[in-house]
Amino acid sequence: MKSKIVIVGSSNTDMMVKVDHFPLPGETLIGDHFMTAQGGKGANQAVAVARLGGDATFVCCLGDDAFGNQSLALLKKEGMDTKHVRLIKGASSGVALIPVDKNGENTIIVASGANAMLSVDDIKAAEEDIKNAGILLMQLETPIPALICAAKIAHANGVKVILNPAPFPKEPLPEELLENVDIIIPNETEAAYMVGEQITDEASALSVIRKIQAKGVKTVIVTVGKLGAYTIDEQDNLVLVPAFPVKAVDTVAAGDTFCGGLCVALAKGYSIADAIRVGNKAASIAVTREGAQPSVPTAEEVFTTL
Ligand code: RIB
Repeated sequence: MKSKIVIVGSSNTDMMVKVDHFPLPGETLIGDHFMTAQGGKGANQAVAVARLGGDATFVCCLGDDAFGNQSLALLKKEGMDTKHVRLIKGASSGVALIPVDKNGENTIIVASGANAMLSVDDIKAAEEDIKNAGILLMQLETPIPALICAAKIAHANGVKVILNPAPFPKEPLPEELLENVDIIIPNETEAAYMVGEQITDEASALSVIRKIQAKGVKTVIVTVGKLGAYTIDEQDNLVLVPAFPVKAVDTVAAGDTFCGGLCVALAKGYSIADAIRVGNKAASIAVTREGAQPSVPTAEEVFTTL
């Protein structure tokens, strides 16, 4: 497989507040510690790929404002290729408001700003890089027509297409997208939205994965938080690749770090099960730290302790 990993997606500035509990409707809650951090599912995954030693090229849109310029400078520092990051004059950069509760769980509200302007033309501008990649990695925080265009280019050129369907949209995912996806990585909530069935045990995990496969995606990996991730192995059996047990302080970007780690491992030639193990390890380190991109570990932290 070619080593280049193209990530298409969002970039946000995250505003995080520690809270005792999530506010109820109408409640004003006095929070605790506040921090801003670089975030956005696309940028988090691109940073995870780059920090874990992968050859990352990021395609995204930022506003030409203070947040956007800061984000671009920090993305460049990670050593990824940012020639397809477009700064849009007059647009606001994406922002995410994130309360984190005492168990490390979060809720996220995103004001998309420039992320909503990622167009088919942005993808066409990156066409040669997509064609020359081993993996195309995408999420759902940017417009679906652009993602379909990217998936079609990749699929037609033998590039592995990996979709993290987060956040899950109100409408079902278009067939035109799914038929061009090789590996889908929903968490248990997104998987339940996809097929209308919850994962409560191994039997339901198998049933959910089979139903997602019936939508046309061969490889399904469902992340199930501190349990790890379910998939179907080469012998067509359900396997749970267990998570590494840690005390979580902040789960923001755990899924993004998992996806980045998995892609880097696949690009190195690891099997799906071994790549999931790498993703689990990277995510287990990320949840012990605060913030999205500040929490993403390095290659040394992950690969030397597997
Ligand atoms: O997956 C975590 C990310 O979701 C945060 O960084 C936030 O910006 C939202 O995109």
